[in-house]
Amino acid sequence: MRHNSVEGNKLEQTYMMIKPEIVAADSQKIGEILAMVQKNGFRINNLALKHLDKETVERFYAVHKDRPFFPDLVDYIISGPVVAIHLERDNAIVKLRELVGATNPADAACGTIRALFGEALSQNAVHASDSVENAKVELGIIFG
Ligand code: CMP
Repeated sequence: MRHNSVEGNKLEQTYMMIKPEIVAADSQKIGEILAMVQKNGFRINNLALKHLDKETVERFYAVHKDRPFFPDLVDYIISGPVVAIHLERDNAIVKLRELVGATNPADAACGTIRALFGEALSQNAVHASDSVENAKVELGIIFG
């Protein structure tokens, strides 16, 4: 594993996805979110506009497959294109989740991406991986 020069700060990979309601709204919001990510020290390793298919999204969110909201979640994510982003920085998982904020925009701290751009729990602007292991799986599903 690679480490950066500050001891204890691991260089990590993570996956972020800008969800359909943002992509459909206007491209300025995509730019503002990307600017926040870059200002916070993340390097963009890969970025693509993708319209995901049902099978891919079911695999991506498989951890939620028994939850009542799963069918609506899948239908929503396939409803339009998303911006898929492979990010890298030290402690990327924790740092991105801090920047993104709580799952429900109503609970997200001021200034976070979900507080600024999220509309509801089901339309919370972005997804961010919750662990190094899940980031690896998610990046594999989306980017191959
Ligand atoms: P995300 O981080 O993409 O991971 C799973 C998504 O399910 C989550 O963001 C929410 O947008 C969505 N979701 C919808 N309903 C719920 C719920 N009741 N609890 C948690 N997540 C939900």
